[in-house]
Amino acid sequence: MTKPPKTCIYVCNTCRPEGFVGDDEDRPGAVFARALLREAQGQGLTEQIELKAVNCLSVCKRPCTVAVSDAGKFTYVIGDLEPERDTAAVLEFVMKYREAGDGITKWRERPEVVRKGTVARIPPVGHDAAPVTSIVTRPDSDETT
Ligand code: FES
Repeated sequence: MTKPPKTCIYVCNTCRPEGFVGDDEDRPGAVFARALLREAQGQGLTEQIELKAVNCLSVCKRPCTVAVSDAGKFTYVIGDLEPERDTAAVLEFVMKYREAGDGITKWRERPEVVRKGTVARIPPVGHDAAPVTSIVTRPDSDETT
């Protein structure tokens, strides 16, 4: 039997609040990445998830930031995360995300820090079902439907 693919959590390891001075490994993003790995190992989730560090996810004003992605699923970008506070909440969200066919989880079932911190939910390439609809341009018109 084939194992289901791992869900990827991209962690910005360069996230830092404005005015932060310190070594790269002390940046809150790098601290968050290490804390998330420890939490995932502690919960025995390393067969379900893969953690990858990214130098910037372009959400720099809302550190710390992660992106949760899986083949054929919506990608969530989540900011405002705290290393000491939010690792378990992120993993709770990721487990619900894995259960959802398209990755869209019920808003009410997402941990509060994920509800409040979600910056973007991006459809997978080729997704053509709700909540995505086609934009059709009418011939001889600039109007779209
Ligand atoms: S430095 Fe973390 S999103 Fe840019």
